[in-house]
Amino acid sequence: MTVINEVKQRTDIVEIVSDYVSLQKAGRNFKALCPFHSEKHPSFFVFPEQQTWHCFGACSSGGDVFSFVMKKEGIDFGQGLRLLAQRAGITLISPQISKSAEDEKRERLFQINEAAAEYYRHLLLNTKAGEPARAYLSKRKITPETMEKFRLGFSPDSWEALKKFLTSKRYEEGELAEAGLIIEKEGGGNYDRFRNRLMFPICDIQGRVTGFGARVLDESLPKYINSPQTQIFDKSGSLYGIDQAKTAIRRENSAVIVEGYMDVLRAHQHGWQNVVASMGISVTEKQVAIIQRLTRNIALSLDADAAGEEATLRSAEVLVASLEKKVTPIPTWSGLVKYENILNAEIKVIPLPQGKDPDKVIDESPDLWQNLVEQALPILDFAFATIISKIDPNKAKDKSLAIQKLLPLVYEIKDPVRQAHYVQKLARRLTISESILAATLRKSQTTKKRQRLSEAIEQSRFTQQLVSNPIEEYCLALLLQYPELRQASRELSTEHFESTENREVFIKWQCTQDSSKLKEKVDANLLEHLNYLMNKPILDKNESERQQALNDCILSLQERFSKRLEAGRELMFNLTREKEGVNAELAKLDEEGIRASEQLKEIFIKRGKPARTKEVR
Ligand code: UTP
Ligand code: MN
Repeated sequence: MTVINEVKQRTDIVEIVSDYVSLQKAGRNFKALCPFHSEKHPSFFVFPEQQTWHCFGACSSGGDVFSFVMKKEGIDFGQGLRLLAQRAGITLISPQISKSAEDEKRERLFQINEAAAEYYRHLLLNTKAGEPARAYLSKRKITPETMEKFRLGFSPDSWEALKKFLTSKRYEEGELAEAGLIIEKEGGGNYDRFRNRLMFPICDIQGRVTGFGARVLDESLPKYINSPQTQIFDKSGSLYGIDQAKTAIRRENSAVIVEGYMDVLRAHQHGWQNVVASMGISVTEKQVAIIQRLTRNIALSLDADAAGEEATLRSAEVLVASLEKKVTPIPTWSGLVKYENILNAEIKVIPLPQGKDPDKVIDESPDLWQNLVEQALPILDFAFATIISKIDPNKAKDKSLAIQKLLPLVYEIKDPVRQAHYVQKLARRLTISESILAATLRKSQTTKKRQRLSEAIEQSRFTQQLVSNPIEEYCLALLLQYPELRQASRELSTEHFESTENREVFIKWQCTQDSSKLKEKVDANLLEHLNYLMNKPILDKNESERQQALNDCILSLQERFSKRLEAGRELMFNLTREKEGVNAELAKLDEEGIRASEQLKEIFIKRGKPARTKEVR
């Protein structure tokens, strides 16, 4: 997604415009006195569904959120983009200039981590200092093969051993701090972050070391410390072991997510190679994004205590939501679970015996782990079990609470047989009549449908903003690629382009005779879009076809513009009619209406056929 689209997606025009003018609701839209000219009756409208604005009064102009801010603040496109990006919390990286520098920097951090991992590994395997760590691993029955596979290491009990080693390799102290390997003291000076710990290099899916986890060799606290957030390390966007597990995950078309480093080591050592760890946090969307490219069958094996249950449900929620965006949020005991039975993803929960983690289970009995994996509960059954275990089925109030929480999950099930199964199950567990439950379900299903529809409408707003403007784009592509068409463009005005990125390109093109110079003139953030337009395939083969295509585009854009005016006139007519003393206003509107209709008529005549309407949003 281009940064322009990202900003559009995260910005609501109503919110932005409200900062400048006081908007009043007018049906599905909003109106206000136009901020660009003085008037007594509102002729300025904001259309949330299209994320556009229009003044149907003296300005007769409009556009998207960018053009509004640019016009209001009197700033150019680049400044407008920066302003809106900042509001939306998006960092703008000037595309061309800093990108390669940024890549270089990241590359350098990877190299530093790689060197550090090698250093720690050497200390663990080959030195006297590494002896206690080797003893610890042996006590925990970690084999040399596992140590090798996961590149385990040891950080010495020293404040600057790593720093000395890496600076001797010509890495700068500033870079080491950026990699999170040394900590800078406030009054100056610095020291190694990881000391006297067992080191777990954390890798991305390609096997590059992004950061480290580090465990003490005894019972002291904190048990683990991790690399801080860096340019290449984000704990919530990493899965420990993914590089070693990806092949097995693909091959078996399933993945198991556990909590800890040791769980991953133990599972792999015993042959379960599709296991990765969320590193002690409930699964995040970024983690799902990594895994879902490999499989959609995911089992969670998180802690069995109450906090673990919550975390499991939370993880499940993220998993389901990310795997299938169309799901509906449903309240459960511990917040929201999103469940959609039709998604071709199977999310299961591997139950753990109280107080044990997969490491312990596998160590004590690999067979038990195998059984637990085979008996993994579909997330829905897990939610049932969790919620029903928390209520007293003899109390009417508890029963109705449980129904409130669980029925929404049941009506998400698309397969009627499966749905009936869960209705039956719920009825039995709560000792209530199945028919009553089924009736309640039917009732909620109808209300549910209505609710979904409104969600769909809400969602369409966001997709709509991202829908490109095919006619605007084709028109510009023709103009940019075929300079001989410039003459014909005289009938176009900037107002005909609603999308600001197109409008900007058009404005710059108008005052640049040589299209090849355009790249130097547009804002850096528009380059990607400009390139797209300059390389957009033109389907019209010869000159006269292209001429015709351009004329058609121009007519379409003019037509859309006039229709907007006419629609606005109608809108205002309906709104102002209710008020008193609007005669003067009506006359004015009529005048504008006639103007708009005349423009339309002219277009029809030029075209010699009735105007098409399908391009008009
Ligand atoms: P656990 O305490 O279950 O760790 O935390 P573990 O992997 O089973 O380690 P052992 O068996 O006690 O040696 C689960 C995960 O949570 C993160 C680590 O990723 C750990 O593996 N964690 C835990 C931290 O980041 N910091 C901590 O202080 C504790
Ligand atoms: Mn453990």
